[in-house]
Amino acid sequence: MTDEAVTGIENLSQETRTFSPPTEFVQDAVARPSLYEEAERDRLAFWRSRASLLSWETPFTETLDWSNPPFARWFADGTLNVAYNCVDRHVESGHGEQVALLAEYEDGSDATFTYADVKDEISRMANVLVDLGVRTGDRVAIYLPMIPEAVFAMLACARLGAPHSVVFGGFSADALRSRIEDAEARVVITADGQNRRGKQLPLKPAVDEALAGGADSVEKVLVVRRTGGDVEWTEGRDVWWHEARETASTEHAPVPVEAEHPLFILYTSGTTGKPKGIVHTTGGYLTQAAYTHRNVFDLKPRSDVYWCTADVGWITGHTYVVYGPMANRATQVIYEGTPDTPHQGRWWEIVEKHGVTLFYSSPTAIRTAMKWGEDIPAKHDLSSLRLLGSVGEAINPEAWMWYRRVIGGDRCPIVDTWWQTETGGIMISPLPGITATKPGSAQVPLPGIGADVVDESGTSVANGEGGYLVLDKPWPGMLRGIWGDPERFKETYWSRFEGLYFAGDGAKRDEDGDIWLLGRVDDVMNVSGHRLSTMEIESALVSHDWVAEAAVVGANDETTGQAPVAFVILRGGSEEEIATAGGEEKVPELLRAHVGKEIGPIAKPKRVLVVTELPKTRSGKIMRRLLRDVAENRQVGDTQTLADASVMDLIQQGMSGKS
Ligand code: WTA
Repeated sequence: MTDEAVTGIENLSQETRTFSPPTEFVQDAVARPSLYEEAERDRLAFWRSRASLLSWETPFTETLDWSNPPFARWFADGTLNVAYNCVDRHVESGHGEQVALLAEYEDGSDATFTYADVKDEISRMANVLVDLGVRTGDRVAIYLPMIPEAVFAMLACARLGAPHSVVFGGFSADALRSRIEDAEARVVITADGQNRRGKQLPLKPAVDEALAGGADSVEKVLVVRRTGGDVEWTEGRDVWWHEARETASTEHAPVPVEAEHPLFILYTSGTTGKPKGIVHTTGGYLTQAAYTHRNVFDLKPRSDVYWCTADVGWITGHTYVVYGPMANRATQVIYEGTPDTPHQGRWWEIVEKHGVTLFYSSPTAIRTAMKWGEDIPAKHDLSSLRLLGSVGEAINPEAWMWYRRVIGGDRCPIVDTWWQTETGGIMISPLPGITATKPGSAQVPLPGIGADVVDESGTSVANGEGGYLVLDKPWPGMLRGIWGDPERFKETYWSRFEGLYFAGDGAKRDEDGDIWLLGRVDDVMNVSGHRLSTMEIESALVSHDWVAEAAVVGANDETTGQAPVAFVILRGGSEEEIATAGGEEKVPELLRAHVGKEIGPIAKPKRVLVVTELPKTRSGKIMRRLLRDVAENRQVGDTQTLADASVMDLIQQGMSGKS
């Protein structure tokens, strides 16, 4: 990859290419230009008619209650059930035999589930959960690999109105425990293990460990058998899914809940050490999930085969694997494994095998595929594809061009979609068949969404200028708060600019008024499209006995976008222990492993540098900007505000050649 591709985001001003929508798309597109006019004319009426695409048990009369901002209530007096909307109604309307899930397993085996099958599975699981004591309103933690049972578990919870908290299968036992404790989950759904790069990795032991150290709210653990083999078993607590399933009825009446009933909690990193439990509710979230999925991906339920490569452990997996596609009756691929198992063409082999038409992935995956080389996708017939999507971070214009040419055969429109765990669904994106796309820009707010770029004082910037991305109107899929912490919700998102939601991203508006995202402006880093907070990794490092102080920065990385780099000061008195462990050279490796254990492998710093001082301002704030310069091998910037300017020399001398 060229340097230009890596620094493409900073070179946006040079990007002038545009691609008009292909004629085939314009004629037959789901999204119509009139959507913009309709939303402009009467925003609430617009959302009201989007909500009417769902099936309501009790129709709502009020669209939005914004009398107590920032706490929004959408469609509040209506009732509905999400699982009914995602599954049952399709069966009732005669589409029970349509394939819902095309499951691909890592070892090359596969399975197919129709909507009727899914209805049976989630009804069975809902009945089992009821037997295990789950009632409407109880929280259920889900810790599963990317297998159909993960989708079933989420929908079974939704069927009962029991908010789920999905914890990514790559998170550690400690991370799982703190999330279970925060949500006070009653039941955990997990698997014995998961297949990862040809190996079978245990999963249930992490649940056992999490529960042994606390998480007292958990009464039962439902275990899916995936890898087979021996597992530790706690009688009276642990229940095999395949055994409970055998006697469970496929009859289950979905429980209608109020539109504002919480559908799920999903933890995400913020600027502090403690992850935030983002709360999403039922009616507004599903409305936005369904509307955005249908229009942004141009979904034709009869003919399309859709594939979103995200794991259900992240928001993209919630909204664009489970809720959006299934509310729209999509047929979709769900893949258990990694893109390079058993070979680097695995994804493209799956596209060919199932005739995937709509493909949604991330810049980091695209950059990785670029690195592996275009001869790999070239071995597969990708001509079924008709639209490509990207999410997770800004896509470098060169990666965008490669995606378009190599994967999309120069024919597929690309939708670069900006959104967040907090927004619930896509907010800024081109609409296929309407928007002329620009490589690297998410471009325009969707119809019904209000977004702006403002300066320090909250004033809209002129075209051609940069600032902060804000959302200036409430939207149906917006987070309703942080679980158990309403003050933190206000403080985090609504305090920086009066009356505006501050997303934490820098952005620029070009001469045409299109929006370009410029990355986080807070202490959150984006590693392979996953959010990690510098504070969270610092806390994990400092929790190690040897570490006195730690500073973590996100350094640019060719493949993962950013990578954590840690600077640590060792505690006096730990010399002996360190010597026994193999000396100071061993410290980086051991601390990396420690972070892996505390948070999960994705949070492991790429490099750990042992230093004797950290650069600080006179008020004691760590100057991460300077450390980033070091981590990115740049000339160190302005050191004037440092309390002791010689620190940087020390760090640079000390680290030359070390990592
Ligand atoms: C970043 C993922 C630029 C952004 C859905 C945001 C993006 C954070 C894009 C949210 C994009 C996501 N262009 N940046 N198309 N999509 N981001 O909560 O910094 O995991 O604030 O949600 O990812 O990450 P999250």
